[in-house]
Amino acid sequence: MGKIVVIGSANTDLVVQVLRMPAPGETILGGKFMTAAGGKGANQAVAAARLGGKVTFVARVGNDTFGEESLAGYVAAGVDVRHVVRDAEAASGVALICVDAAAENSIVVAPGANDRLSVEDVERAEAEIAAADFVVLQLEVPISTVCRAAEVAQAHGVKVILNPAPAAEVPDELLRRCYLLTPNRNECARLTGLPVNNAADAKHAADALRRRGVRNVVVTLGSEGSLICGETVCERVAARRVEAVDTTAAGDVYNGALAVALSEGRSLVEAARFATAASAIAVTRMGAQTSVPTRAEVEALLVEA
Ligand code: RIB
Repeated sequence: MGKIVVIGSANTDLVVQVLRMPAPGETILGGKFMTAAGGKGANQAVAAARLGGKVTFVARVGNDTFGEESLAGYVAAGVDVRHVVRDAEAASGVALICVDAAAENSIVVAPGANDRLSVEDVERAEAEIAAADFVVLQLEVPISTVCRAAEVAQAHGVKVILNPAPAAEVPDELLRRCYLLTPNRNECARLTGLPVNNAADAKHAADALRRRGVRNVVVTLGSEGSLICGETVCERVAARRVEAVDTTAAGDVYNGALAVALSEGRSLVEAARFATAASAIAVTRMGAQTSVPTRAEVEALLVEA
């Protein structure tokens, strides 16, 4: 079983189904409401654990009901939460999410305790990081913390997967520490300043990122699948056709699954196939962590086609 350390955000998602997104200044009436455990870091940690990884999560939640419920969910998924700090000074992170009739989402995050995940929190988890096969990072916590996590991982020869979400610019020093970068189309455009409208554009942008020092790049392209550009490979993995109801956390499930498959010694392309199947199941369900499939569900889908 591969050992994975996920360092990142934990939120509670307040989700409303809408027919269409509201325009600025407009009030619209939505449909069903749900509360679900979310946060890019937590979603990736829970996905990796439910799919068979041995996962430690490094994060901060508030000393409040949302924090308590989130922690209980991580434990139930089998995540080691010894490095999830209960922060008495800040509320748990919250995300307000609208999901429209096309299964697309629009998200606003109030980071709360996530903004206080510190370099010291990472350093306290150094022994866990040193013992891991992969460290998985995103950009929903302070960039100084992300950079330090990558530095500590690299110092111990541990491979870093950076999911550069939400879209932001990233220092070259951080890119150079990454074994794998996993942007979606928008994040890839933001990182490179290049248009990413199709697989050919994605290849161009991935090459530009590799010239900046990342070893491997997987660009996720939604219904167009993903493009894997690595040291020894450049291949497209097709998406699976499904009836999507909510694309929230599809990228997180993809990243968690990718980390599990890589930690089990699969190639990048094999790992991308596994991750594609996992995220295809996730988009057929509402919510973030509520949508994460089990290993058996993913394996059954892989056998089907
Ligand atoms: O990637 C989806 C996640 O983004 C949601 O769960 C929300 O909490 C935000 O972090």
